[in-house]
Amino acid sequence: MKPTHKLLFILCPMLVLGFIYYSSGKLHLPVWGQKSHEDAEEPTVAQAKSAEVKGIPDNSVEEPTVAQAKSAEVQGIPGRENDAEEPTVAQAKGAEVKRIPELEMDNSVGPIVGSVYDKQGFLLHLDTKLPQELEYKYGNLSEGTCKPGYAAAKMATIYPKFLKSAPMFLDRNFKRLAKVNNYLPPFGFKTQERIIDSILTTTKNYGLGEELDSLGCKRCIVVGNGGILSNRSLGSRIDEYDVVVRLNEALVKGYGKDVGTKTTMRITYPEGAIQKPENYEKDSLFVLSAFKPLDFKWLRQMVFKEKMRGTDGFWKSVAQSVPREPKEIRILNPYFIQEAAFQFIGLPFNNGLMGKGNIPTLGTVAITMALHNCDEVAVAGFGYDMNKPHAPLHYYESVKMSAIKESWTHNISKEKEFLRKLVKANVITDLTNGI
Ligand SMILES: *[C@@H]1O[C@H](CO)[C@@H](O)[C@H](O)[C@H]1NC(C)=O
Ligand SMILES: *[C@@H]1O[C@H](CO)[C@@H](O)[C@H](O)[C@H]1NC(C)=O
Ligand SMILES: *[C@@H]1O[C@H](CO)[C@@H](O)[C@H](O)[C@H]1NC(C)=O
Repeated sequence: MKPTHKLLFILCPMLVLGFIYYSSGKLHLPVWGQKSHEDAEEPTVAQAKSAEVKGIPDNSVEEPTVAQAKSAEVQGIPGRENDAEEPTVAQAKGAEVKRIPELEMDNSVGPIVGSVYDKQGFLLHLDTKLPQELEYKYGNLSEGTCKPGYAAAKMATIYPKFLKSAPMFLDRNFKRLAKVNNYLPPFGFKTQERIIDSILTTTKNYGLGEELDSLGCKRCIVVGNGGILSNRSLGSRIDEYDVVVRLNEALVKGYGKDVGTKTTMRITYPEGAIQKPENYEKDSLFVLSAFKPLDFKWLRQMVFKEKMRGTDGFWKSVAQSVPREPKEIRILNPYFIQEAAFQFIGLPFNNGLMGKGNIPTLGTVAITMALHNCDEVAVAGFGYDMNKPHAPLHYYESVKMSAIKESWTHNISKEKEFLRKLVKANVITDLTNGI
């Protein structure tokens, strides 16, 4: 053997080993709670866990909190010590690396681009007009007619990266959805494929229903739970929308005058679901937005009407049954959580894993869904007025605004920045002017 060949024989394995060593070191650092070493104020997962054990109450009234993050970890989201999960982290890392060329591309256009778009990729001037042919098209429709493609077209004028196609619900072909199948919940469905398959085989329905699916132009409203809806008599206006989206346990019964009576779908996670069967409205779709692997397991029990075995891993008590037939149950596409978090709001990527302050609220997830699937989008009941601490937080209960505290999972102020852009650019209409 020639000396140069010998050298290569030795060099190659060394390079490979060196790379593995380097990457394992890199990969293990940035997982859970890595910031806690720099910033004593930020609770690590371990601290969060012990906080829960000691009975420190939830950070916020309605939102998933520390305990949820904890159960996510319990359910197999890799921790720092968990070597077996390395490929997952590596893939998440790969996804992050792939994003960089995109950023570089933006920069390479030069300083003009830097001054026109904000960090998230939204135009700084949000009053940009639609392309002329669309202005004509919509201008020629009679007043009050639904404008096909309006929300997506408006969105694309302020956010050029916007791609409309993203189905509302998972269907039997869900594994084709490349953007979500490499992320663990809540940003994808990785590790949950089998359970999702068994749910979808039984529900057999993956759309809004024949009537709504065949509409050429759909108007949707996402009704938030804010006290701001009280005494505004918006019920009949809300009911005029083709699709009325409601969230979690927000009651309709008894509040019809203010919030309407129609519910096309109720999007919820287990802890947020209505617990009393008699409080469910008739004829609405029950849509799961899963934030952790356990949520899929819970849904399977609801679909198959099985008894719940243990409630460990939920951050509060959950519904024991959902009075809905399998054909009325759907799974929300997790892409909307991912897109809202990382693209629209700009929450910390954290290797594609749930972490401090990187989960969007359900309301923003629902709005993101609507941008992709509705022609016109309105919202009502969004926004908190912190200057009125005694005002009710929710329209359906007497908890006060002052009960809201800083959340571990959400970043309400960053989220609000995003929603303000949508309202300012007329991508969405805010009936209660709370955003
Ligand atoms: C209607 O469309 C025509 C061209 O198709 C255009 O010239 C006209 O300005 C449009 N009307 C409105 C109100 O936009
Ligand atoms: C709504 O009106 C009722 C009856 O007038 C009143 O008792 C209640 O305080 C009002 N709620 C809000 C949020 O203003
Ligand atoms: C929210 O985002 C801001 C700006 O990035 C950051 O300073 C703040 O710490 C974040 N809050 C939480 C709860 O993560």
